[in-house]
Amino acid sequence: MTVLATVSAEWLTLRGEADARARSRTLVDELAHRLGDGPLIVHDLGSGSGAMMRWLAPQLRAPQRWVLHDADPQILGTRDPSPVLDGQGQVVGSQPSIEQLGDLGRDAFHGGSAVVASALLDVITENEARLIVNACVSAGTPALFSLSVSGQVLLDPGYPADEHFGAAFNDHQRRVADGRRLLGPDAVRVVARMFATAGWSVRELDTPWRLGPDESTLSAEWLAGWVGAAVEQRPELDSAAGRYLALRRTQLAARSLSVTVGHRDVIAWPQ
Ligand SMILES: C[S@@+](CC[C@H](N)C(=O)[O-])C[C@H]1O[C@@H](n2cnc3c(N)ncnc32)[C@H](O)[C@@H]1O
Repeated sequence: MTVLATVSAEWLTLRGEADARARSRTLVDELAHRLGDGPLIVHDLGSGSGAMMRWLAPQLRAPQRWVLHDADPQILGTRDPSPVLDGQGQVVGSQPSIEQLGDLGRDAFHGGSAVVASALLDVITENEARLIVNACVSAGTPALFSLSVSGQVLLDPGYPADEHFGAAFNDHQRRVADGRRLLGPDAVRVVARMFATAGWSVRELDTPWRLGPDESTLSAEWLAGWVGAAVEQRPELDSAAGRYLALRRTQLAARSLSVTVGHRDVIAWPQ
């Protein structure tokens, strides 16, 4: 059985506002332009607690039904039960689907209108990405994948240690976990190439988090995870990590640290 890294509902809630600000609305316009009058069936892969549906559904005018795919029944169970409205004020229907992307069939999206995901591509394997692309191509459904990590991180003020932690973190993102090699920061490049090879049009945009002094809770949590993953990957960084984190936390408390975390959004559609 495939074992996946689990994500906590608390972390998804904490990052929710920064995600909503960062995702590309330009690429949503590209998507909307390619959808008919509906009713639409939208497949959300790695939906977690449903943040992508809450963000995207109101931006689409057509009536919609969403299928929320995730391997983790617990995270699916944390969905906010309050209604989501489409761009015309109609309630959007949704249904969960507990499944591993590694089991995705070629016909999984037949009859669907669009396939979307947010914060997913960097935590899947090349094989899972291929199954997704094959299923999109087979169904002819445009695909919008938001917020895959790009590996670029900028802290202001910056120090040489940032690069050491950043490089180790990116290696950690590409690690083999339970026999699965994760795409990490290569995800968008890999997926874009798969769609282009299938003859589809592809557009990408940078969609970083820009975290200022008002987002210090998210910055602190992100920093702890960033440094923790770097140390897990390169244990020799452990001796520097404590001092580094203490300094960064002091700067956060003094409102003198800003953090930019690189992400990339990608849309693909049949020509
Ligand atoms: C970082 S969370 C993003 C959740 C949500 N899309 C959001 O933006 O808040 C990634 C989600 O993908 C799911 N996931 C990761 N790998 C998966 C796989 N191979 N098959 C199915 N679900 C997967 C995880 O369970 C998790 O809920």
